[in-house]
Amino acid sequence: MSNNVNALPRHVAFIMDGNGRWAKKRGLPRTAGHREGAKVLRRLIRDLSDIGIEYATFYAFSTENWKRSDEEVSALMKLLEENLDDLVNYENENIRLRFIGGRERLSPLLCEKMQKGEDKSRDRTGMTVTIAINYGGRDDIVRAAKKSAELISEGYLKPDDLTEDLFTSMLQTEDIPPVDLMIRTGGEIRISNFLIWQISYAELYFTDTLWCDFGKKDLEKAIDEYMTRNRRYGDAR
Ligand code: FPP
Repeated sequence: MSNNVNALPRHVAFIMDGNGRWAKKRGLPRTAGHREGAKVLRRLIRDLSDIGIEYATFYAFSTENWKRSDEEVSALMKLLEENLDDLVNYENENIRLRFIGGRERLSPLLCEKMQKGEDKSRDRTGMTVTIAINYGGRDDIVRAAKKSAELISEGYLKPDDLTEDLFTSMLQTEDIPPVDLMIRTGGEIRISNFLIWQISYAELYFTDTLWCDFGKKDLEKAIDEYMTRNRRYGDAR
């Protein structure tokens, strides 16, 4: 691949869209699409790890997804509960599991599984998988703004000392590098409030392929395209 100008992306983020349409095409309920989507996510984690990606972040449930029907919300929550044990027990892949998003509205059982998953996988050295549940990019920024306001009002920080780097470290992605490649499946061309600060210089990749049909070949195609793009970071060269 002599045309490559970039190394492999360190951090790939996914907006897993199109599960409802995938199910509808088959005459199945939307929740069957999410169930299939969870399988795809689990397969893709292996593929990402095999390729050598260090950080992968998945948008599983947004702060706006509460607007969906009670039935769909509870099916999604149950699906998360069911899958977390397996995700964390991926001993072979040496996956470090992290979660971002507000935990206030989540069930005690889900919170407990999330905490256990993080605790159990904390010292692993393989790929870091971050799952965003009840996550919103604006919410993330507001939480960081509140933290910095508190530090300022308590006298630990002066307003002039607040830098981009310091603010970045107050976001929920504090120990995760910025996104290099953001992939959205399902044909929509938007970011939907996902990691809006962290994608400032990310390369964006949109595909019509529905999440449930997204496989290793699609992933490799997106990564190949990323590697040929010229990332200038505002420079004119
Ligand atoms: C968007 O498709 C997808 C979601 C809101 C849910 C994504 C969640 C999963 C794939 C399951 C995650 C599981 C684990 C274990 C983290 P949509 O419902 O908006 O599809 P549509 O645009 O076709 O209606």
